[in-house]
Amino acid sequence: MNKETEHAGLLKEIESCTACGLCQGRTNAVPGEGNLNARLMIIGEGPGANEDAEGRPFVGRAGKLLEQMLDSIDLTREQVYIANIVKCRPPQNRAPKEEESEMCLPFLLRQIELVNPDVILLMGATALNNYIDKKLKITKTRGQWLTRDGRPVMATFHPAALLRDPNKNPAAFKDMLAVDRKLKGK
Ligand code: URA
Ligand code: SF4
Repeated sequence: MNKETEHAGLLKEIESCTACGLCQGRTNAVPGEGNLNARLMIIGEGPGANEDAEGRPFVGRAGKLLEQMLDSIDLTREQVYIANIVKCRPPQNRAPKEEESEMCLPFLLRQIELVNPDVILLMGATALNNYIDKKLKITKTRGQWLTRDGRPVMATFHPAALLRDPNKNPAAFKDMLAVDRKLKGK
């Protein structure tokens, strides 16, 4: 099966998934989108109100900032693949619960396998804790190269965290430069 067909099937499965309680509050599932041959995959937390309304990831204010972060290393959102830990919006934008993330993670793992990116960038603590290790702190771990399944992974601050505290901006943009160097093999 080619990538497009496999991806379309995955989207269908996600859109009809009722494996966890988050399905009850969704207007639209937000499976993820982007270049199926992307060298960089972005992983966020989960849909907010705008994303739930549109069925697309990172389309609100945090999404604009994510686009600026990508632009700082000359990437567009069309060139990367963007996904989230959970595909349905948690009520009041709370962080996903452990059982919700666990039920949803197999979809993300299939997306990663399909796209097979060279580098993964985790946006914020939820992505870090669910993809790498529950015990890691984003403030301590951001900017360091981690590994999962033989692939380089970096965590940085979530753009929503940057909007709340712009003092975190320099660190996040520095992390983008490290991602750029890794993509360029430097
Ligand atoms: N925040 C996220 O973590 N993901 C989105 O898709 C939008 C905002
Ligand atoms: Fe299914 Fe994930 Fe939505 Fe839960 S959040 S219902 S596991 S798609």
